[in-house]
Amino acid sequence: MIGMLEVIGLTKRFGALTAVKNVSFKISEKEIVGLIGPNGSGKTTLFNLISGFYKPDSGKVMFRDHEISGLPQHKICKMGIARTYQIPRPFLEMSVLENVMIGALYGADESLGKSRSHALECLKFVGLEKKKDVPAHNLNVSERKMLEIARALATKPKLLLLDEPLSGLNPKEVAQARELIRRIRDDFGVTVFWIEHIMRALRGVVERVIVLNYGEKIAEGSFEVVSSSSKVIEAYLGEKWVIG
Ligand SMILES: Nc1ncnc2c1ncn2[C@@H]1O[C@H](COP(=O)(O)OP(=O)(O)OP(=O)(O)O)[C@@H](O)[C@H]1O
Ligand SMILES: [Mg+2]
Repeated sequence: MIGMLEVIGLTKRFGALTAVKNVSFKISEKEIVGLIGPNGSGKTTLFNLISGFYKPDSGKVMFRDHEISGLPQHKICKMGIARTYQIPRPFLEMSVLENVMIGALYGADESLGKSRSHALECLKFVGLEKKKDVPAHNLNVSERKMLEIARALATKPKLLLLDEPLSGLNPKEVAQARELIRRIRDDFGVTVFWIEHIMRALRGVVERVIVLNYGEKIAEGSFEVVSSSSKVIEAYLGEKWVIG
């Protein structure tokens, strides 16, 4: 299998707090890998390190055999890593289509005309084409989540980092979004690294799951293996969510 992402001994501190502690793992091309862990376990910080928002204190991030740790965010985006945010941050006054066109112009270096048609394709893919002309502030929670995904896809990523794409969605929307994530990989060949709060939402879609607790990787493996690991169950004690 071809290596897509390799994280080696990655550490990030905020003052006295070590948010990500000596984390290592690999993701292969066209895998869908879940990242779970209790609140504050370092999941988003790990994405911020991979996407170049933060520089690691130590360790390395390799993307398709090139070291990217320390590179600026826009370079990493152009190399083929896109992300969505836990709390969607569209340009509220701009239309849905314009928001996605920015992704195409910024990440994929497309001409204006090409970026428009490409953005429309991405909107169609996530089911938002009918809303293309409305300002982004008119969208509800689930539509904003879909806009995030469309905007990330418009940059033509090879690796897509999804930060809790299902939060705030109702059960029907969750089912649709799970299917959509599968299709991002199946139809476009994009490798997906997916932070999820509710472990069972990953079941049947991901090939592997990585678990963080207090910044450390405590488990890695198939959904079945990880969800029955006593270390993982222990980390979740006191958390409201269901594991399996
Ligand atoms: N910029 C920052 N400055 C200081 N502390 C931070 C910063 N960003 C994150 N932290 C802290 O680092 C730890 C990990 O945070 P992070 O957001 O990565 O967790 P998470 O696993 O994504 O949590 P959640 O499930 O709530 O989204 C937390 O204790 C958080 O308060
Ligand atoms: Mg987070």
